[in-house]
Amino acid sequence: MESSLEAGGKPKIMIDRVMGNQVQLEDAVLEQSRPELRPLTFLDYIGQTHVKDNLKVYVGASLQRGQALDHVILHGPPGLGKTTLARIIASELRAPFYETRGPAIDRPGDLAGILTGLQPGSLLFVDEIHRLSVKVEEVLYSAMEDFQLDIVVGQGPSARAMRMPLAPFTLVGATTRLALLSKPLLDRFGIQERLDFYDDQALCEILRRSAGILGIDVTAAGAAEIAARSRGTPRIANRLLKRVWDFALSYGAKQVDRELADRVLHRQGIDASGLDRIDRQILRIVAKQYSGGPVGIEALAATLNEDRATLEEVYEPYLVHQGFLARGPRGRLLTAKGRAHLEILDKSPIGAESAGTHDD
Ligand code: ADE
Repeated sequence: MESSLEAGGKPKIMIDRVMGNQVQLEDAVLEQSRPELRPLTFLDYIGQTHVKDNLKVYVGASLQRGQALDHVILHGPPGLGKTTLARIIASELRAPFYETRGPAIDRPGDLAGILTGLQPGSLLFVDEIHRLSVKVEEVLYSAMEDFQLDIVVGQGPSARAMRMPLAPFTLVGATTRLALLSKPLLDRFGIQERLDFYDDQALCEILRRSAGILGIDVTAAGAAEIAARSRGTPRIANRLLKRVWDFALSYGAKQVDRELADRVLHRQGIDASGLDRIDRQILRIVAKQYSGGPVGIEALAATLNEDRATLEEVYEPYLVHQGFLARGPRGRLLTAKGRAHLEILDKSPIGAESAGTHDD
């Protein structure tokens, strides 16, 4: 149980602060070297305006009525800020925040332990909620709907059905795969919000904010260059900013400008459209081995030697969003834009990659 739940949304090391001086010392070093980039309020949260505005209304209404916020499902590609939003909702509600992941809740008993430990009005965040087992999911239904825990205790002839009241709580589920949620579970989320890729302007703002926190000197053009190559994803933008800053140090540069960003990102195999080696490999495989498609996701994953779920959750959404790839009834197709991108790449050094598998 301990391992599947983190109270207060803080890493375990923070909870262990009471254990003595040595831990405190390590905390101090850790905190210093890893400043918090995640915004803590709606005010500081950039982009996703529609989602944010809706959530502000729901949170405000819940506070005015003095009732627990309806359950929330946040869905969309990885790295767009689902966890961040869940933490912000809790902090705006001034509610205790508990965090766990679908795969960490093995058995109904684990879930019962978590739910009975919640203080009234708590927010329970379950990341990767599509990975809950059917048995655990079934226990969630009455917990979400009536704040009642229906659970079977014991096994065989001595098994007994038990019903326990729960303190009102808000479940915030996050998933990259909404389609994998069962209908009964999805129906119990009164608030359903989809996060979409960020535009370059929002990413630029996020980068300027992160640079300020990290003490990185970045020009407007430098931030724009990183933003344009971050797949519409703040997590990637912040990661690239740090890597470019590392190279700035090694090159003796005092500032991240457009040239430096371009040089480092090119070196990292990220092309002008923000595609990485695997993205390009996907496009090349569809173009060359499947004559532009359609190709089924299973065949594509096998040729690429990549896990199907990773392909569907991580790579494909951005390629489709950017119009390089299309999803047809018979499989994935290379678009005219995808073909044109490959032609440009074939003329540049970054394009010197083959249409083979990872292991090439
Ligand atoms: N850091 C990561 N995501 C962010 C966001 N949406 N707004 C501000 N800072 C962020």
